[in-house]
Amino acid sequence: MAPLKLVGLSGSYSRPSKTTALVQHIAGLAEARYGLASAIYDLGDFGPSLGQAQYETQLDESARQLLQTVVNADILVVGSPTYKGSYPGLFKHLIDLIDPLALKGKQVILSATGGGDRHALMVEHQLRPLFGFFMAHTLPSAVYASDRDFLDYQLVSEPGRLRAEQAVGELAAFLPAIRHQAVAAE
Ligand SMILES: Cc1cc2nc3c(=O)[nH]c(=O)nc-3n(C[C@H](O)[C@H](O)[C@H](O)COP(=O)(O)O)c2cc1C
Repeated sequence: MAPLKLVGLSGSYSRPSKTTALVQHIAGLAEARYGLASAIYDLGDFGPSLGQAQYETQLDESARQLLQTVVNADILVVGSPTYKGSYPGLFKHLIDLIDPLALKGKQVILSATGGGDRHALMVEHQLRPLFGFFMAHTLPSAVYASDRDFLDYQLVSEPGRLRAEQAVGELAAFLPAIRHQAVAAE
């Protein structure tokens, strides 16, 4: 059987990006621990048609295919930078293009970065309800990291790394069901 597909979606367009680094860190842990195949994308990967598209069909071909890759992942790791206490508008715009039923029942690890710790609950008050709309299964532990958790765009702090491991550990309980679904879909 092919390995399960984990897609990391960073809602950042910065390069380099702490958010993308956080998503990569979490995805890397999951890949190593469970033998998943992972791929990471950020907002820049969607290209210029993203800002103009009101519907998925108005995205250019490569952006549309990329959105399908995200939606068809067996597991998602979503990360967002905190902008004014929430996710960036362009990230929400991308999410707005997803069919309301496309993420139903999908396991999603939530993560976010911010300049400081004041907006750490952004993962609970902004990201979790957003994926609740889609009836996705967001894992209980969301990961928030601030500037001081990073060095040279790597997640280095002990609490940050432990939190990431905790979130990835919560996937274990769901893997049999995810594998079962993936086999049924083949
Ligand atoms: C427009 C803008 C608004 C921001 N608002 C907040 C905020 O409300 N709270 C916070 O903690 N950090 C805020 N920040 C800091 C970023 O969330 C932080 O630097 C983040 O790690 C950047 O991620 P990136 O490296 O992926 O761009 C803001 C940054 C920008 C550019």
